[in-house]
Amino acid sequence: MILLDGKKTSADIKAEIALEVAELKKQDKKTPHLAAVIVGNDGASLTYVNAKVKACERVGFESSLIRLSEETTEEELLNEIAILNIDKDIDGFIVQLPLPDHIDEQKILMAIDPDKDVDGFHPMNVGKLALNLPTFISATPFGILELLERYNIETSGKNVVVIGRSHIVGSPMSILLAQKRKIGNATVTLTHSRTQNLSEITKKADIIIAALGIPEFLKGEMVKDNVVIVDVGITRVADSSKKNGFRLVGDVAFNEVSEKASHITPVPGGVGPMTIAMLLKNTLLACERRNS
Ligand code: GUN
Repeated sequence: MILLDGKKTSADIKAEIALEVAELKKQDKKTPHLAAVIVGNDGASLTYVNAKVKACERVGFESSLIRLSEETTEEELLNEIAILNIDKDIDGFIVQLPLPDHIDEQKILMAIDPDKDVDGFHPMNVGKLALNLPTFISATPFGILELLERYNIETSGKNVVVIGRSHIVGSPMSILLAQKRKIGNATVTLTHSRTQNLSEITKKADIIIAALGIPEFLKGEMVKDNVVIVDVGITRVADSSKKNGFRLVGDVAFNEVSEKASHITPVPGGVGPMTIAMLLKNTLLACERRNS
């Protein structure tokens, strides 16, 4: 069994990006600048956003963190987005999700300039992705494609089963893997909470992308030998033996499934670290597009 090591792979990607930034600086070209907006004080969201900002600094990007209070109105947030849209120094920005209930998430995402939408969540960019046109592929699906590519996993003609139909992961992943592209050309089955006889389907899979958000959902008996497993799940489960009071658990029962798998992502240290590396990659791309 080979671990698909997202920690190492993302470090490789970040080192490559840092080299490109150093080259930009040497040529007196603009340094990529990512801004992140966060509304409220959710602990997990703050941790993610801080990790994104720190990653920017490490590769030599400029970064801005815009922290807004839980009471921020939709109008105030739209104003903030309008400012970022026209700020010439900002190449890309993200609005961390989830947003407080009183703010319409779709309205916010639609207000972001698609050329600065490095999360790839704007309907224009989702549409481009569906049509296999150049766009920003959102960080998690992009990270999974990159991980499969760097470990030379063959996807062409393979049976891929995606579990979960979220807009952020399951749905784009199923579209991408079916497309005519380097990591693609697969026969994809998108499964979800209404799928019947899921085990019968997963047992036929050469590659499984588990992205449903239920800890240790995929059991050893649900997969065949030599399957490739990508575990997108990352749930905080209370654990009093840990200093911070929780541990992170994926959607895959790792101990059972890893005995049968040819390749598997660990949690943590698999897909998670890849997402930040791909956000940086999208920001670099946004900067290049805007300044070419
Ligand atoms: N919340 C969870 N994942 C993401 C992400 O990739 N981008 C943003 N903006 N919010 C998130």
